[in-house]
Amino acid sequence: MRIVSGIQPTGNLHLGNYLGAIRNWVSMQDDATANGGECLYFLADLHAISMPHTPADLSANTREMVAALVACGIDPDRSVLFNQAQVPQHAEMQWLLNGTARMGWLNRMTQWKDKAGKNREGQSVALFTYPVLQAADVLIYQATHVPVGEDQKQHLELARDIAQKFNNDFCSEDAPLFTLPAPFIPPEAARIMSLRDGSSKMSKSDPSDMSRINMTDDADTIMQKVKKAKTDPEPLPSDKDGLEGRAEARNLVSIYAVMAGTSVEDVLAQFGGQGFGSFKPALGDLLVEKLSPINARFVELRQDRAALDAILKKGAEKARALAIPTLEKTYEALGLVRG
Ligand code: TYM
Repeated sequence: MRIVSGIQPTGNLHLGNYLGAIRNWVSMQDDATANGGECLYFLADLHAISMPHTPADLSANTREMVAALVACGIDPDRSVLFNQAQVPQHAEMQWLLNGTARMGWLNRMTQWKDKAGKNREGQSVALFTYPVLQAADVLIYQATHVPVGEDQKQHLELARDIAQKFNNDFCSEDAPLFTLPAPFIPPEAARIMSLRDGSSKMSKSDPSDMSRINMTDDADTIMQKVKKAKTDPEPLPSDKDGLEGRAEARNLVSIYAVMAGTSVEDVLAQFGGQGFGSFKPALGDLLVEKLSPINARFVELRQDRAALDAILKKGAEKARALAIPTLEKTYEALGLVRG
């Protein structure tokens, strides 16, 4: 079992990232290391330059994201934790896979369509070829499982298509080079929505900080954001069907259920009939209880820049060693001469 996943260091780690992906990174780390598997988790800093960015912010965010991931439970002694920029094999592999990926496949990516909007001509080439780098990230390690939120599913299907086409085109049938990676998406928290708008996902790029709970928010901020979250005037229903057409209510109830380790049905059995005036403080208290230890650890870790850099350096050394064998086989399969 080889588990691989990444996150862009473009801002704060938020509750959507945590519930959709990072919680699974931590639980898979515990399972995999107990069963002889391996986990590789990385900061997708090479992906982050596909959009306009400020260099000083990127380096600061990269270090903050390492601190946040360790605070959430990623253990750099058990998982390989690194940033792409220190493992140039990812970018090399992307170039090799660019020969296999098709323009039509990339043109169909919804993230590309959403981010480019009507101004395709004005986008960076990197934004268009972004999913090929993502395929390289997982294929280079022969990943078997990739824990992600729902929004990354299409990119992983593309990684599988690239792997399959490469195996067909350049490998014999009984010796395919690439493992086809399977996405691992949590059923309840696949898509956590914005606190201001139940129809758009919670996101780092939303200009309003009130739209998301950051894993680094203090208790007062969390409580204030929950109390100001958009809702409707109706009381909570007592069963799941009653959440139909109530996106904001559904989102808050789902967050409660996942954070409490229970089901939506159980939350509604407890709060059904009550208004948001009593549900919101309960949700705020639960979030503060669960997130405060993470926040406290984050505040401590972020101060030691040298320690954070050392984690990335050590992780990158391990990652390079794991990446090189598949990269070399890829060069060979393509007929490229390497001394
Ligand atoms: P990124 O940085 O946008 O998000 C990191 C992880 O958080 C999940 N996520 C969510 N899950 C539920 N609800 C939300 N509102 C929410 N917002 C984000 C994402 O699905 C993701 O799992 N392209 C990737 C990074 C990447 C990657 C990879 C992932 C680069 N290479 C290889 C897996 C494998 C991205 O931008 O994620």
